[in-house]
Amino acid sequence: MRIAMIGTGYVGLVTGACFADFGHTVTCVDMDPAKVDALKAGRIPIYEPGLDDLVARNTREGRLFFSTDLPPAVKDASAVFVAVGTPSRRGDGHADLSYVYGAAREIAAAADGFTVVVTKSTVPVGTGDEVERILREARPDGDIEVVSNPEFLREGAAIEDFKRPDRIVIGTENERATAVMAEVYRPLHLNQGPILFTSRRTSELIKYASNAFLATKITFINEMADLCERSGANVQDVARGIGLDNRIGSKFLHAGPGYGGSCFPKDTLALMRTGQDHGVPLRLIEAVVSVNDARKTAMSRKIVAALDGTVAGKTIAILGLTFKPNTDDMRESPAIPIIYTLLDKGAFIRAYDPKGMQEARKVLPDVDYASSAYECLEGAHAAVFVTEWDEFRALDLRRAKALLAQPVIVDLRNIYRPEDMAAHGFLYDSVGRNRIERT
Ligand SMILES: NC(=O)c1ccc[n+]([C@@H]2O[C@H](COP(=O)([O-])OP(=O)(O)OC[C@H]3O[C@@H](n4cnc5c(N)ncnc54)[C@H](O)[C@@H]3O)[C@@H](O)[C@H]2O)c1
Repeated sequence: MRIAMIGTGYVGLVTGACFADFGHTVTCVDMDPAKVDALKAGRIPIYEPGLDDLVARNTREGRLFFSTDLPPAVKDASAVFVAVGTPSRRGDGHADLSYVYGAAREIAAAADGFTVVVTKSTVPVGTGDEVERILREARPDGDIEVVSNPEFLREGAAIEDFKRPDRIVIGTENERATAVMAEVYRPLHLNQGPILFTSRRTSELIKYASNAFLATKITFINEMADLCERSGANVQDVARGIGLDNRIGSKFLHAGPGYGGSCFPKDTLALMRTGQDHGVPLRLIEAVVSVNDARKTAMSRKIVAALDGTVAGKTIAILGLTFKPNTDDMRESPAIPIIYTLLDKGAFIRAYDPKGMQEARKVLPDVDYASSAYECLEGAHAAVFVTEWDEFRALDLRRAKALLAQPVIVDLRNIYRPEDMAAHGFLYDSVGRNRIERT
């Protein structure tokens, strides 16, 4: 089967490469010539474990192509996936659909023969209807069906998620489109990957409901962490105690600095706006959004408190910048507002991240970047763990203590155990657990 992937960002590149690996012939199109040139030269613009090998192999075997030229890719394809960005619209938080609609217009002009246009981008309920209207208006003669097929992959585990998904959601009630989609996903279907066929609108909403539910789980445990700190309970044990209940489940119950990343912040906001537009205010989601926003400031306060109430003129070592480990994605990372608050209060920030520093430099120019965790700690008045990269889990604590100007650690990911830190003589604060004070 011939597939065109419009938009070769995180989702487009991973999905395109995985479809090629199934045996389909895939052309990934992007409007950014620098990105396409890099991919043609074998350079992967993002960090995602295993992606470089997957792209290299499928390119070599003649199934995966990159291009800036949309029309020929669309003309030959039976399925055209739209995987362009849907960022928050400046000012009101609605999903900005201009890239999706722009892509639809270009596809309309180029489609030839029966073409299934598949929206992979995360789009508000009803967007498929508008995409269909655009296509029909531009090509009254066209034989085109619009399908919703949201993507659930997690950055850092994207290939594994694509190849062994919990579910594939396909929103269409059209028989011919169903047949094409079944063919696209046949290898997963043969592998017992559960495919859920729904109406298009339902499929669009499943994606937002899913992300909003996960964001709610994180926010819930973060509020429990605050209560644990005040009441002397331990949030990790609370999370375990509730997570072992199968009705709740243990995932997404790690207390921390608040959710970030390229999806949850914008998707919760967009869902909130969709609810308001439909006269159904989603008060739970509104609370989640505002609690999560407040959390970044609360984390900065925690760091300031660990430094006896003032950070002016002090050096703070930030370990981890990306919104989660195993990605270089800095979009909406909690590290950004935390660092800006500390800079505003006069702190000097030195940071280290295993993969994210190139991206971080673009959004955090006033930070001094170290080339290793230990170099980052040298002479700092406190170390703060913001992202739980594996390499931070096994630091030589004796060496770390010797490098720091004073033994203060704020662990926003609960990487270490308070008892161990006490034994090493650190003043240690974490999230939702007992703080170790100066005795
Ligand atoms: N990143 C994730 O983890 C993730 C997971 C699930 C769903 N999603 C959703 O998938 C969509 C894409 O996300 P992303 O993170 O891959 O975005 P991205 O910003 O990394 O990539 C989007 C790409 O689309 C290109 N583009 C825009 N308009 C185009 C056009 N008309 N023709 C060709 N290329 C065009 C851009 O140049 C860019 O490279 C979003 O709706 C997002 O919410 C993302």
